[in-house]
Amino acid sequence: MFTVYVASRDELRNALTVAVKNIPEAILNGSSSDLRQALEECAAEVPGVLLIDDALLAQNIGLFEKVAEVPYPVVVLAAPADAQAARRALTIRAKDFISLDRWAEDLGPILSRVAVPIQGETREDGRVLVVFSSKGGVGKTTIAVNLAIGLAKASHQPVAIMDLDIQFGDVAPMVGDAPLVTLYDLVKSGAPVDAEMLKRALKRVANNVYMLAAPENPEEADDVRAEHIVQILQLLRETHAYVVVDTAPGYTDVNVAAFDFADTILTVCTPDVVTLRTVGQALQVFYDGFHYPKDKVQIVLNRSGSRTGVETADIAQVLQSPIAYQLPSDGAFPVRAANEGHPLLLQFPDSALSRAIYSMASELVRETQGRSRQESKKTSAKRTLFARLTGRKPKEV
Ligand SMILES: Nc1ncnc2c1ncn2[C@@H]1O[C@H](COP(=O)(O)OP(=O)(O)O)[C@@H](O)[C@H]1O
Ligand SMILES: [Mg+2]
Repeated sequence: MFTVYVASRDELRNALTVAVKNIPEAILNGSSSDLRQALEECAAEVPGVLLIDDALLAQNIGLFEKVAEVPYPVVVLAAPADAQAARRALTIRAKDFISLDRWAEDLGPILSRVAVPIQGETREDGRVLVVFSSKGGVGKTTIAVNLAIGLAKASHQPVAIMDLDIQFGDVAPMVGDAPLVTLYDLVKSGAPVDAEMLKRALKRVANNVYMLAAPENPEEADDVRAEHIVQILQLLRETHAYVVVDTAPGYTDVNVAAFDFADTILTVCTPDVVTLRTVGQALQVFYDGFHYPKDKVQIVLNRSGSRTGVETADIAQVLQSPIAYQLPSDGAFPVRAANEGHPLLLQFPDSALSRAIYSMASELVRETQGRSRQESKKTSAKRTLFARLTGRKPKEV
């Protein structure tokens, strides 16, 4: 959702305000045909975007400097191929330009793209990170739980942790919680999972971290189907910046649904020959069987540096993939944290594993932000402001 203020000549004002009200995500903050008044009202209540009719700009050259300095984005509505209007839009540092001859179609998409959303809302879908391994006991749950906490700390955004070890899930005890509502309660009726039900099932387990616990008994796992997982992940990523999914080993339907849905599969490996062999087989399934792109799967080496006789460089070579993250052995700290139901990252934030998981979380946040910047560059390059003002084709980037 975002708010819009409309500054326009009277003849257009009514049509524009009605059109803004018809944009599903937009809220009209106000409108005026007096640019000075519009700026005053916007200073008092900052809009997500200010739409200015170029006719008002043409009459108010003295206000250009003021408009250029406002802290919210400005979009100009002007006649197409009007060189003077183009110059005015550039002078006031407009973020975008809507052409008068097709404003009814362009208004919604352009305002939605440019506007700053109302605080506390994420604009884009969150990133889904599935923590997987072909082996049990390699540290998946320890990593998933603490990574979720680290991501919330590093991003200051809401993070969901979903326990998809549907038979023997242990995320809840690891965060010291005995859940009243679990994944089973969401799926047992057979009806599609809706946002309201999911909200009731989520339990806050740390600052900005919300857990969806696994079923309590192994028999209940039978009712969990792949389509439920897709419904739940879709809803979770709409409301959380990151969704961390803990899994059990295996290519079950439920796991494969999560793998397909994931943006990133963090595949956990430990430096021993037996684990390496099965992780190698798992990677083959991802690449050759499912045809996932190389960068969808990232290898996490847990207990790295342990003196097992298997060197990190050899592991990367055997797996024919770089190791994205290395997490050290941390003695008894992880076990103590799990026994006490108080996550490592909160209880022993300075332990070697906590530090490594936090820096992994920070790196993932940086990478995610970089990706979304690239995405928006790509879309805006299609039709840059300059290109549309001048009618020229944009340069390829
Ligand atoms: N880097 C580490 N250093 C020390 N102990 C660890 C480390 N990673 C995991 N552990 C311990 O190993 C055991 C298995 O971890 P867990 O996260 O339950 O694995 P998984 O979910 O893959 O079965 C737990 O007792 C956990 O505390
Ligand atoms: Mg586990």
